Amino acid sequence: MSQTHNHLFLDAIKNKPIDRTPIWIMRQAGRYLPEYINLKNKAGGFMGLVRNPELACEITLQPLERFSLDSAIVFSDILVVSEILGINLSFIEKKGPMFDKTIRSEKDLHALNINEHDTDSLDYVFDTIKLLKNELNGKKPLIGFIGSPWTVATYIVEGNSSKKFTYVLGMMKNNPALLHKILDILTDISIKYLNKQILSGIDVAMIFDTWGGLLNDSEYKEFSLSYIDKIKASIINKDIPLIYYVRETEKKIHILKNMNIDVLGIDSSSNIGVIKQHVKNKYALQGNLDVEVLKQDEKIMREAVENILTSYNSPSGHVFNLGTGITPDINPDKVKMLIDILADISPKYNVK
Ligand code: CP3
Repeated sequence: MSQTHNHLFLDAIKNKPIDRTPIWIMRQAGRYLPEYINLKNKAGGFMGLVRNPELACEITLQPLERFSLDSAIVFSDILVVSEILGINLSFIEKKGPMFDKTIRSEKDLHALNINEHDTDSLDYVFDTIKLLKNELNGKKPLIGFIGSPWTVATYIVEGNSSKKFTYVLGMMKNNPALLHKILDILTDISIKYLNKQILSGIDVAMIFDTWGGLLNDSEYKEFSLSYIDKIKASIINKDIPLIYYVRETEKKIHILKNMNIDVLGIDSSSNIGVIKQHVKNKYALQGNLDVEVLKQDEKIMREAVENILTSYNSPSGHVFNLGTGITPDINPDKVKMLIDILADISPKYNVK
């Protein structure tokens, strides 16, 4: 497998000298791109793309053909791990993820084939990674990812993307032992799944903990972070950097500052400067432009980028990104504008 030659993103993560701040965008392959919509329609929907390695590879590369981005991210979803548990995942247009089963009781848990965890059902992801490594040919790094066990559990227990979290929060209160059993299983399969992505060729690993912010400090440590620590300790290749993303990052920074990770992904409600003061040079930061800024004119965009760079105020250790995934209502020209602005103004911050 070829080595990755473009080290800007990897150098920024390692806090090495860089001549500009690297950038990639969460959900960079997605519905704001007309070429994505086109191919998705041909494939018969989102999972039709994800389950077909040739198409998933093509979709991953679409934003890199259009823009000067510094990394690719495998086109897939955090919820595909459910397939290892024999739970079928589908996506309903305008509604989001749907499962054919939920886990809300011991009985539901026992009904799963929990002794036969096998990553084979996700071979399409590993095949996509291998195709991508070949296509990228060492020119750009490739990010692979998983969801945090807690965040994936919120979907599998609820059965859809209900924003009320009634069942999972109820389980935490009334039957924490069952929730821990589910989290243990998800942790186990996530470790195997992530390690197989590493063996297939990813350069960087990312964990999305979108709903970690629902939990108070002690719950967060018990039901989310303890499992992240376990995953981090089980990564087979210690040279693969780990990015951990959680929303409401600033509220949790007193806990997060002690984490054993390589990069912290920050949401847009947080102040990157405040986070930097807590974290110092322990690990790198990623983020955190508000996606709404991409609806504004160039002057406002420039000010917003400048604000983040000034607030971060350090020559390396920062990967630029949005604070959430890019939304379908963004004009792709604004993404190009953002990348140009960053390339124009970041070098003066990167000089020691
Ligand atoms: O960032 C990337 O480009 C890589 C691919 C990726 C997707 N989802 C593709 C996707 C990644 C890393 C994710 C992560 C993900 N998926 C998260 C964590 C990050 C976050 O957004 O908070 C979560 C919570 C999910 C679960 C999920 N996937 C939901 C709730 C939905 C429906 C709502 C929505 O945002 O569209 C998805 C769908 C999804 N995942 C799409 C894409 C491109 C849209 C699919 C479509 O075309 O309809």
